[in-house]
Amino acid sequence: MKAADFGDLSRRKTAVIGRPGTGKTTLLGNIARSQPKVLIVDPVGPLARFADLRIPIRAAPTPDAIAGALRRIASECWPAGQRVALDASAIFGDERAQLGDLLGRAAIQHLRGGVVIIDEAHWFMPQGSFSTHKGLFELIGKGRNYGLGTVVSTHRPAMVEKNALELSDLWIIMGLTGTNDLKAVARLLENSGIACDSPRLRQTVAALGLGDFVLWDANLNLPRPPSAPS
Ligand SMILES: Nc1ncnc2c1ncn2[C@@H]1O[C@H](COP(=O)(O)OP(=O)(O)O)[C@@H](O)[C@H]1O
Ligand SMILES: [Mg+2]
Repeated sequence: MKAADFGDLSRRKTAVIGRPGTGKTTLLGNIARSQPKVLIVDPVGPLARFADLRIPIRAAPTPDAIAGALRRIASECWPAGQRVALDASAIFGDERAQLGDLLGRAAIQHLRGGVVIIDEAHWFMPQGSFSTHKGLFELIGKGRNYGLGTVVSTHRPAMVEKNALELSDLWIIMGLTGTNDLKAVARLLENSGIACDSPRLRQTVAALGLGDFVLWDANLNLPRPPSAPS
């Protein structure tokens, strides 16, 4: 497999969406390897092998514990060229949204420059979490001011708090077949100012093979087609 080159993602807000088994985690790993300063949040495990150092997060994470981990990354790991994975496999249920919140806040406070990669993002910013757990949303929205990019990946776009996905400016859509998820993606693209023909989107992404994706880049200012003479 050839690695896709997305360039410097430290000022981008990337969303990776696709059904299970379409290659999201693999793509995230390739992205991780292509960026010099990386913090991976991995609730399952496979992404951590793309990191040089794995920091386990204990259940019931506290603000102090998360801030401590991120201070260590900023002062020791990133300067030494180490890519880091936070192993969140001991965190379940509501604590995942709590971890997302703490992580977002601590990242804005302690990390400068780099990319925060969050796999299975629906667990860390589920529907409805925007009102109570704003940290990750603030990181996505304001990270650019600190040179911090985010890559959020999910197979359940309909279950992620939509604010998180609407903030994205780089969309990587992999194979997707669920009607609700296709609708959610079409709606999100439209709300993000990207014109999209829903039936065609459905047809195109339903036919994507392993590792294939379609990409929308809000920063690519393509020339408008000439307007029809009136
Ligand atoms: N581009 C690719 N080419 C070939 N095999 C791939 C590619 N991307 C992923 N795979 C393989 O497909 C399987 C599922 O990939 P994974 O990244 O875990 O998908 P997801 O995270 O979307 O569930 C894995 O065994 C992985 O090694
Ligand atoms: Mg995966």
